[in-house]
Amino acid sequence: MKYSSSTTAVPEVPKVPRHVAIIMDGNGRWATKRFLPRVAGHVKGVEAVRTVVEACVQRGIEYLTVFAFSSENWRRPEEEVSLLMRLFVTALEREVAKMHANNIRLKVVGDLSRFDAKLREMIATAERKTANNTRLTVTVCANYGGRWDIMQAIGKMVAAHPGATDYAEEQLAPHLAMAYAPEPDLFIRTGGEERISNFLLWQLAYTELYFTDTYWPDFTSEKLDEAIASYQHRERRFGRTGEQLAKAK
Ligand code: IPE
Ligand code: IPE
Ligand code: MG
Repeated sequence: MKYSSSTTAVPEVPKVPRHVAIIMDGNGRWATKRFLPRVAGHVKGVEAVRTVVEACVQRGIEYLTVFAFSSENWRRPEEEVSLLMRLFVTALEREVAKMHANNIRLKVVGDLSRFDAKLREMIATAERKTANNTRLTVTVCANYGGRWDIMQAIGKMVAAHPGATDYAEEQLAPHLAMAYAPEPDLFIRTGGEERISNFLLWQLAYTELYFTDTYWPDFTSEKLDEAIASYQHRERRFGRTGEQLAKAK
């Protein structure tokens, strides 16, 4: 496969984003606002993931990537971390068969070495089972960090080119955790914060960013459509001028 990225070639701009990447934020505040424990927000958040997966299938989106647990989320209270892990296990138990029946491929990326053996085994089984599905690829980023990804890719790149002292972007990119997917066209962060929080640092180079105050558990297919509509009004220049784009039309 020929290497192509938004910094080396001008990619095609699809009307409907091919790849949507989401920071699902605001679960805790959603719950607190209702005088519920934070975990209730995470439970509700899983339902929102299901809704958005279905919406992506209907809209012909090819890749959906969701940030479920960051490499920094271990800093949270132990009970919340362990509940998030349990929720991950239950979600896998409940959803994988349905995803498979709907021709959805599941990938989980991140430093999985910190997860317990049972969870790692479940992830491997789910990935194997859905590996040949073609309708939508859902990637769950778990114990993921953009800097972790770049560092692990550098390690593999160096090992693959012994003796080299100079490297090109083309040599690093195939080792990134999501090398199987094109770069995201649209990034969405719910919950009101306007930051990347160590998500896909390399891959977001030319992604259109969309921030909404909606808490993740309240995110619906209509809200997804609002984000897509905003994306469709952007002019993606990839370094060129607006005049050049107008001429090319
Ligand atoms: C996002 O919601 C879910 C995870 C980080 C696991 P939060 O739990 O960060 O919710 P807020 O930001 O505290 O409201
Ligand atoms: C980002 O949310 C990570 C996930 C959604 C999994 P956080 O709530 O952890 O982000 P910060 O700490 O507010 O930046
Ligand atoms: Mg948060």
